[in-house]
Amino acid sequence: MNNKEDERADTGAKEPYFWNPRTHEFLGRTASSWGLILLFYLVFYIFLGGMFILTMYVMLLTLDDYKPTYQDRLATPGMMIRPRSEAMEILYNPQDTESWDRYTEALDIFLAPYNNSVQVQNNDDCLPDNYFIQEDSGEVRNNPKRSCQFNRTSLDACSGIIDRTYGYQTGQPCVLIKLNRVIGMLPGKDGQSPYVTCGAKRYKVGQDEWKEDADAIGELAFYPPNGTFNLMYFPYYGKKAQVNYSQPLVAVKFLNISVNTDVNVECKINSNTLTTGGERDKFAGRVSFKLRITSSNN
Ligand SMILES: *[C@@H]1O[C@H](CO)[C@@H](O)[C@H](O)[C@H]1NC(C)=O
Ligand SMILES: *[C@@H]1O[C@H](CO)[C@@H](O)[C@H](O)[C@H]1NC(C)=O
Ligand SMILES: *[C@@H]1O[C@H](CO)[C@@H](O)[C@H](O)[C@H]1NC(C)=O
Ligand SMILES: *[C@@H]1O[C@H](CO)[C@@H](O)[C@H](O)[C@H]1NC(C)=O
Ligand SMILES: *[C@@H]1O[C@H](CO)[C@@H](O)[C@H](O)[C@H]1NC(C)=O
Repeated sequence: MNNKEDERADTGAKEPYFWNPRTHEFLGRTASSWGLILLFYLVFYIFLGGMFILTMYVMLLTLDDYKPTYQDRLATPGMMIRPRSEAMEILYNPQDTESWDRYTEALDIFLAPYNNSVQVQNNDDCLPDNYFIQEDSGEVRNNPKRSCQFNRTSLDACSGIIDRTYGYQTGQPCVLIKLNRVIGMLPGKDGQSPYVTCGAKRYKVGQDEWKEDADAIGELAFYPPNGTFNLMYFPYYGKKAQVNYSQPLVAVKFLNISVNTDVNVECKINSNTLTTGGERDKFAGRVSFKLRITSSNN
């Protein structure tokens, strides 16, 4: 036992903790002790902040404005449809305009930038079936890069120009398909453009029971011909380098789809460089959706 504690024991008085006037301690520490602690933390945090700023600075130096530094090595991109809904369903009655005009309106908005006039103004008339390569030569940037025209009229019966209702009014609806953008992707070799095919989707109905609506899907038509995504729209160099890029589209028109029944459709990409995902990645290179056309006059 030291003397201090002896003293305390003697007087029986409790030393005030918050401010001790006798020892000049604030919360149990003297002013110089507090000063040292504050100084330590000050130096410590300045050091940490400095480290953070330095790391960020070095990282930003290594970033390229035009290319993502890290991109998932996704072999095959996903596909998406237009008109799109949360449930991936297109349900309507041709006789009831209000049941389908939201679909045609969505397509009108989506296709507006593809108007020939807009495409001719913004983009180049490229050589089909060849990649439109515009590499940078070393450190010299070849930016901005040009893009190829994708004319709205190449969607023909699904362009909304000949038939302003995209076939919805006659029960022969068009669905547009796009391939998600992947920078630098080369989707075909030997001049063979990838193309889209659609068919009835096999789906599970019971424990080990599968079903497909093959009889109900009817004949299909594809636009542009053969449902191709022409090679001239690839590779894609990114939003910043290729400002006017128009994603190529494929339209599928259901010419004789059965009415008053659900038709589960799956479309997929066919390419000699991309593989469609199997069970492991169900969304790679494929998209599925449900169509149901109701008709009262049967
Ligand atoms: C695109 O063309 C359609 C049909 O010809 C027209 O109604 C629409 O106004 C055009 N949009 C633009 C942005 O040029
Ligand atoms: C993009 O489109 C604008 C408007 O037509 C045009 O002035 C510009 O040159 C185009 N840029 C590129 C890189 O194609
Ligand atoms: C797009 O249409 C314009 C005329 O409207 C035409 O001159 C041009 O060649 C077309 N481009 C492609 C790639 O078909
Ligand atoms: C469509 O495919 C057929 C058969 O593969 C081919 O003969 C035809 O030239 C293709 N058409 C176009 C426009 O690519
Ligand atoms: C349309 O499909 C029905 C069966 O759903 C079939 O009986 C009919 O022959 C088809 N019509 C054409 C033109 O293919």
